[in-house]
Amino acid sequence: MLRRLHPQQPASFAFTPANLAWAQGQISKYPEGRQASAIIPLLWRAQEQEGWLSRPAIEHVAEMLGMAYIRALEVATFYFMFQLQPVGSVAHIQICGTTSCMICGAEDLVAVCKELIAKQPHALSADGKFSWEEVECLGACANAPMAQIGKDYYEDLTPDGLRKLIARFSKGEVPLPGSEIGRYAAEPLGGLTSLTEYEKGRNPYNASVQAAVDLGDTVKRIDGTEVPLTTPWLGKAAPAKPARGKAKEAKPAAGLPADATGVTVQEAPAVSTGKPEADGNAPEATPAATPEAKTRTRTPKATDTAAPTASKPRPKKA
Ligand code: FES
Repeated sequence: MLRRLHPQQPASFAFTPANLAWAQGQISKYPEGRQASAIIPLLWRAQEQEGWLSRPAIEHVAEMLGMAYIRALEVATFYFMFQLQPVGSVAHIQICGTTSCMICGAEDLVAVCKELIAKQPHALSADGKFSWEEVECLGACANAPMAQIGKDYYEDLTPDGLRKLIARFSKGEVPLPGSEIGRYAAEPLGGLTSLTEYEKGRNPYNASVQAAVDLGDTVKRIDGTEVPLTTPWLGKAAPAKPARGKAKEAKPAAGLPADATGVTVQEAPAVSTGKPEADGNAPEATPAATPEAKTRTRTPKATDTAAPTASKPRPKKA
């Protein structure tokens, strides 16, 4: 599929101050001379801010990264996740059209989009609020058919359910994402048949649905103020109050060895000593140093001889 820039382009692009700080934080993750590696996160943030990727946005990102415009354009036009034309001001609806969803009614959902939004994908609705496209599998096949709207999945969708969703989005509401028929995750329609002990004490909604409920948002443009900027290597203090509660800080087990030997499994001392025979200059293997390791040293068995290839003489070069 040929992907070109839209004929109508805005005059300019600029990140919001918060998004600019975030973008500079991303760039700082890469060593000097490798800043171009930040191209995808920066293009993605530009799209999250504007809804789509304009030519000024692509060029702006290229300039930030010291890249030729054509290199940034190659990335933007290669990946289908980048929208190269304006999308609906409220939502861009992505209907999965791959096998499970197609079998379970994706064509009916596409028909609703054609009726309520626009005959062609990637075209704006008359009021400019919506656009749609058919996409490849979004990984929610068990709850087919489904659509991604904004940042969330709407699953087990019926044509009528999609109509209602579009109507609610149009009124400025943010409908609850997830399964239309109330599945918590991807369990059978009749409910869990195993692992039922995990039903108790869980959040009212599944992971991403709970996040959408907590944030009260799923289609909002990202201006960069939604989440704290965590780039302590730039010398900036971490925010006192992260948006979604304080994350647990990972701490090493102070003073505790990984196991009885005091070393990790990966570093465990060899249980037999290898001794290359062909190269007479190789130093002898050091015996295990710890008392525990000494007790675990065993006498090589006959069956051991097949495994270490190091004990075989190397073929001499001509
Ligand atoms: S086939 Fe639609 S989500 Fe996988």
